[in-house]
Amino acid sequence: MMSSSSKSSLLALLALLLTFSTTDAHVELGFYNETCPNAEAIVLEEMKMILSADPTLAPSLLRMHFQDCFVRGCDGSILLNSSANNLAEKDAPPNKSLRGFDAIDRIKAKLEETCPGIVSCTDILTIAARDAVFLTDGPFYDVPTGRRDGNMSEAADLPGNLPPPTATIDELKASFLQRNLTVKDLVVLSGTYLRLYNFSGKGDADPSLDKGYAEKLKRKCMHYDMETTLVKMDLKSPMKFDLGYYKLVSMGRGLFTSDEALLHDPDAKAYVERQAVAASPEEFFGDFAASMVRMGKLGALTHQKGEIRKKCAFVN
Ligand SMILES: *[C@@H]1O[C@H](CO)[C@@H](O)[C@H](O)[C@H]1NC(C)=O
Ligand SMILES: *[C@@H]1O[C@H](CO)[C@@H](O)[C@H](O)[C@H]1NC(C)=O
Ligand SMILES: *[C@@H]1O[C@H](CO)[C@@H](O)[C@H](O)[C@H]1NC(C)=O
Ligand SMILES: *[C@@H]1O[C@H](CO)[C@@H](O)[C@H](O)[C@H]1NC(C)=O
Ligand SMILES: *[C@@H]1O[C@H](CO)[C@@H](O)[C@H](O)[C@H]1NC(C)=O
Ligand SMILES: *[C@@H]1O[C@H](CO)[C@@H](O)[C@H](O)[C@H]1NC(C)=O
Repeated sequence: MMSSSSKSSLLALLALLLTFSTTDAHVELGFYNETCPNAEAIVLEEMKMILSADPTLAPSLLRMHFQDCFVRGCDGSILLNSSANNLAEKDAPPNKSLRGFDAIDRIKAKLEETCPGIVSCTDILTIAARDAVFLTDGPFYDVPTGRRDGNMSEAADLPGNLPPPTATIDELKASFLQRNLTVKDLVVLSGTYLRLYNFSGKGDADPSLDKGYAEKLKRKCMHYDMETTLVKMDLKSPMKFDLGYYKLVSMGRGLFTSDEALLHDPDAKAYVERQAVAASPEEFFGDFAASMVRMGKLGALTHQKGEIRKKCAFVN
């Protein structure tokens, strides 16, 4: 006879295994090599134009990707609109805190012109988030692709899945460990979720943007030769992807409880303190890329699962 506690831990384990049987989904580098060879280049070109018009979308898109992956897995559920009888994730309270849905729609429309029905909205968001980092002076890293789009999005899924800004270190760790992500992933990605590019990323807290910045970006983009591959926009700006988050947290000036919470875990604290004084962001960039790739595999739908949406806001 099994004790009821070992029975329930067995059940919990089974539930965990079932939940994460898709974690090691077979996304791969260059999934669109044959079917839409310019897919990633098209996303990058669009992202340059999108960010030159509104650089504040860079952290928004990064957070959108994070939120998509944490709720129901990376399946584009965050992009779906509410319907008459369903409140979707994007409209969950605190609603309207994510921006940039139209940017994803715009990229999708461009890709549909070139390769109709091929590139999933989930992959577009994943690639756009990577480009948002790269175009604001962060690292460029290869992202595996081949995710397909899910068909459900429910506001009710948020509360149990997205750690709130008031989360304690234990809650944050649990949320990550539940997804087979480590404390290191937590400390590396927390800037992404909690405080983006040195601002909260809450819809109400967007930085007042340096007026000249958008103009500077625009000029830079006009000089940019569309044929050359990758050029960075190395401009001084609040939208710069750097170690600022760790500097603030180490000084005890995090914006949210969860930021401070990092200092209550010895490993997380050591990481924060090391990055806060690092001479170069190299270590963080490497770690960030690895954590993003791991996070980007959470619950991804591949092969026969899911669909390629025609429009990102609606199931086919
Ligand atoms: C796509 O091409 C890249 C670069 O040549 C290669 O590394 C990758 O493995 C290819 N992927 C697929 C699925 O063919
Ligand atoms: C879908 O949702 C987005 C963002 O919430 C909104 O801007 C857009 O108008 C919606 N589209 C339709 C057709 O309702
Ligand atoms: C936004 O959230 C509030 C609660 O915070 C809720 O009452 C309202 O219905 C939501 N709006 C939409 C459009 O989902
Ligand atoms: C949504 O997807 C699930 C899993 O792939 C599938 O079982 C279900 O039939 C789909 N629902 C609709 C309405 O397409
Ligand atoms: C969690 O990650 C480890 C190391 O990457 C891997 O060996 C293990 O199979 C993963 N477990 C689950 C449930 O995905
Ligand atoms: C972050 O923003 C705060 C004000 O919100 C500012 O005092 C601080 O210098 C900024 N830190 C970095 C590293 O940009």
